[in-house]
Amino acid sequence: MTLRRRWASLSWMWLLLTVGQSQRADDDKPNIVLIMVDDLGIGDLGCYGNDTIRTPNIDSLARDGVQMTQHIAADSMCTPSRSAFLTGRYPIRTGMVSNGNYRVLMTLAAPVGLPRNETTFAHLAKEQGYSTAIFGKWHQGLNCNYRNDHCHHPSHYGFDDFYGMPYTLFDTCGPNLSRDAEIAISGRLWISVQLVALAALTLALGKLSGTLCVPWALVLFLVLLMLLLGHFWLNSHQSSLYWDCLLMRGHEITEQPMKAERAGSILVKEAISFLERHREGPFLLFYSFLHVHTPLPTTEDFIGTSRHGLYGDNVEEMDFYVGKLLAAIDDLGLRNHTLVYFTSDHGGHLEARLGHAQHGGYNGIFKGGKGMSGWEGGIHVPGLFRWPGKLPAGNVIDEPTSLMDILPTVAALTGGIVPQDRVIDGRNLLPLLQGETQHSEHEFLFHYCSSFLHAARWHPKDSNATWKVHYVTPVFQPPGAQACYETHYCQCIGDNVTYHDPPLLFDLSQDPSESTPLTKDTEPLYDLVIQTVADAVKEHRKTVAPVQPQLVPERNRQFVSLMSCCGVFPFCFCDKEGEEAASKQPFD
Ligand SMILES: *[C@@H]1O[C@H](CO)[C@@H](O)[C@H](O)[C@H]1NC(C)=O
Ligand SMILES: *[C@@H]1O[C@H](CO)[C@@H](O)[C@H](O)[C@H]1NC(C)=O
Repeated sequence: MTLRRRWASLSWMWLLLTVGQSQRADDDKPNIVLIMVDDLGIGDLGCYGNDTIRTPNIDSLARDGVQMTQHIAADSMCTPSRSAFLTGRYPIRTGMVSNGNYRVLMTLAAPVGLPRNETTFAHLAKEQGYSTAIFGKWHQGLNCNYRNDHCHHPSHYGFDDFYGMPYTLFDTCGPNLSRDAEIAISGRLWISVQLVALAALTLALGKLSGTLCVPWALVLFLVLLMLLLGHFWLNSHQSSLYWDCLLMRGHEITEQPMKAERAGSILVKEAISFLERHREGPFLLFYSFLHVHTPLPTTEDFIGTSRHGLYGDNVEEMDFYVGKLLAAIDDLGLRNHTLVYFTSDHGGHLEARLGHAQHGGYNGIFKGGKGMSGWEGGIHVPGLFRWPGKLPAGNVIDEPTSLMDILPTVAALTGGIVPQDRVIDGRNLLPLLQGETQHSEHEFLFHYCSSFLHAARWHPKDSNATWKVHYVTPVFQPPGAQACYETHYCQCIGDNVTYHDPPLLFDLSQDPSESTPLTKDTEPLYDLVIQTVADAVKEHRKTVAPVQPQLVPERNRQFVSLMSCCGVFPFCFCDKEGEEAASKQPFD
């Protein structure tokens, strides 16, 4: 127990002694485990109606807890959605947007990230004496001015411990033959450069000292060969494999490039070790899965075991790891003192799913997917909350809720206070979760594509309808497709979108698949709804203060001076995981 925590618990006891039972009992400060999966579709889970994929551990959360059926991400892409999750604020407020089609952080070596003056749920929990950790994907930036300055490292956002990818999985990270070949060739080239350099030096010294009799031409030839090989080596080293696919523990790079297929088990072990070390609580663990993003690195035990190809295997492996986390919570006797939350950062990636290899998730009855701004498939995600004895088991809530609600909910659970000097878009979910209220506080939710508002939903306080108004929708390509194959992701502006005037209107409570737009002729409330939502958008815009957008192309690109390196740049190969995993030392 750290001094700070000891102090915190002492002062807590003092409070209990002096103020008596009217204070929240220690028992009421639950541990919090937040699980987020990357690119998981809502239709990929048994508890959301899938009957061929096996997700028993996640389904148990629904059975033993509360299931949200209208849980909405603040954006349909990783970086902005996660920033909103962390801060409880629309990305447009924090600047985790661009003014064009750049929608995520494009590389780890870009000098951008979540602004340091933002407050995350981890900050709030930490202030209340919680031990905090994030394991897995970050994707909120890393460096600002020089390599390894780590100005956007999770440790600056309230997390005591971090182990994971500061960036995100993407196709280059493998595992595949080209990744392995790339590493092998690069390694050999580097050894050849060293050998040729050594030979040239030996010959030159020998010649100069008169002990060797070789022509200068040979020395010159070796030097040229060294430069040539060095040039190839540097070129093979340009790949983002080296600069973006890396694992970090705390501030140390442990694998560069990382072995993606073994990261899952390493990170789960690390999380379980965190739970064990902090079993006395209270703790907040954000387990941010690298699963089920492409290229779907999966261990051999799971390959070929599902009915849905590599994607299904990866989902089932992810569920297995969820089971490991839940079992650790049970084994430590923390089940009734821990709120477990499960979600996905946005919908499944249709362009990956419908591509020939079927590598993306399934969004069930919802239209569209990852990246498709306002369409439900991109933002309508699973939302499960389990806290035995405190939340009714098996309850289903159809009200609109948001991933941004986690920050105020964490504040309520931990006794913290949400920041008062800025707009917080999330709402405390406890009254809804505990059945004290039946109605969501979110009358309106706004659906952005980067900094552009594409759609909005209205759930009137006195009705069960949920209206959805689309002002802008992505243009699918090629024509007739239901996704954006040519660009791999849909885009936000210009020729890549359709501007609707009048806007498209749907009643999600009647037409959740957004199949038939309502018109003045088919919907008597048409004018009223369009006008009400337009007014709400206008009011909302008034509350958005201009901030510097982070993801703009000028800065959201690779800077050589910011490339992370575990050695002496550009010699950046590390694999420290082997030894460290074996010795199982805690790292703090
Ligand atoms: C279950 O999930 C798989 C994997 O995404 C998908 O292909 C399948 O269509 C889903 N089945 C149902 C019934 O939802
Ligand atoms: C953070 O700093 C930026 C730049 O000075 C400013 O625009 C923004 O309003 C600040 N945000 C908060 C939450 O204080």
